[in-house]
Amino acid sequence: MKLPSFFEEDLQAVDAALQKLLPSEATRPSSIHKAMRYSVFAGGKRVRPILCLESARIFSEDVSAAMFPGCAIEFIHTYSLIHDDLPALDNDDLRRGKPTCHKQFGEAAAILAGDALLTLAFETIAAAPVDADRRVRMVTEISTSAGTVNGMVGGQVADIEAEGKVAGPEMLEYIHRSKTAALIRASITAGAICTGATDQDVARLRSFGETIGWAFQVTDDILDVEESSAALGKTAGKDIAQQKATYPSVFGLERSHQIAKELSEKAISELAPYGEEASRLREIAEFLVYRRT
Ligand code: IPE
Ligand code: IPE
Ligand code: MG
Ligand code: MG
Ligand code: MG
Repeated sequence: MKLPSFFEEDLQAVDAALQKLLPSEATRPSSIHKAMRYSVFAGGKRVRPILCLESARIFSEDVSAAMFPGCAIEFIHTYSLIHDDLPALDNDDLRRGKPTCHKQFGEAAAILAGDALLTLAFETIAAAPVDADRRVRMVTEISTSAGTVNGMVGGQVADIEAEGKVAGPEMLEYIHRSKTAALIRASITAGAICTGATDQDVARLRSFGETIGWAFQVTDDILDVEESSAALGKTAGKDIAQQKATYPSVFGLERSHQIAKELSEKAISELAPYGEEASRLREIAEFLVYRRT
């Protein structure tokens, strides 16, 4: 399946905004800014900021303010990848087609670059040119999604603790919804909040985001089995080697494909009330499950 046509345009706008928000390499202390920039610009798909922008577009033609929460979430996501790759977690050498942050700069710099990106995320949300009330609501959505209670850090803890054990469907769902779906959900709700969506709209998009985010991690597990490291830009086949709790390991590949498709269809059905206004969001949702990278 081809990338949606607007994807490249959004991606370039996101990259330009990230460039402006990150301190330059020359800024003291230079080494940390080099490490932060290295990981952010190593070549991610920018799925989360693009979801944020396209969710905002349902409610307004001007989505420029949504670039702030979108970039904030890309900072948090990149921090989560840097830390996920550390020797104490997944111990990975390759990320976004390049040596991982700790391979390139050492572990201390990688830990601190992650810390710094997380902190910069909240500075970025605070700078969004919208009412303080909307900024506070975005902080709540995003901080919760990255935290320990059904959020990214909680999911990462459970992921590590499940290594080498037999995980059941309930545990698997908990891990995937927490470590990955939560932040993807926040990308979508923050975009909507930023452009003044009603509580009812935010609730509907929360449900869409949660389900498409879950499908995204099921697909990540499938790609780890089916694709090469060159295609993924990260080490393929690692989940089996590390005995991770994944959909293919619990349900098999065929059923995992089916689950991803069912989740994606369920998510897309939540967008029905928006008709054409949500056509881009629908297209991305399809891409997230049929992607090969
Ligand atoms: C990888 O996310 C980690 C997961 C949460 C599955 P992405 O597949 O969005 O990685 P990048 O940002 O494109 O590198
Ligand atoms: C990572 O899940 C989710 C994060 C919160 C970073 P994975 O460990 O499966 O991500 P990859 O496959 O290394 O990108
Ligand atoms: Mg991991
Ligand atoms: Mg990993
Ligand atoms: Mg993975």
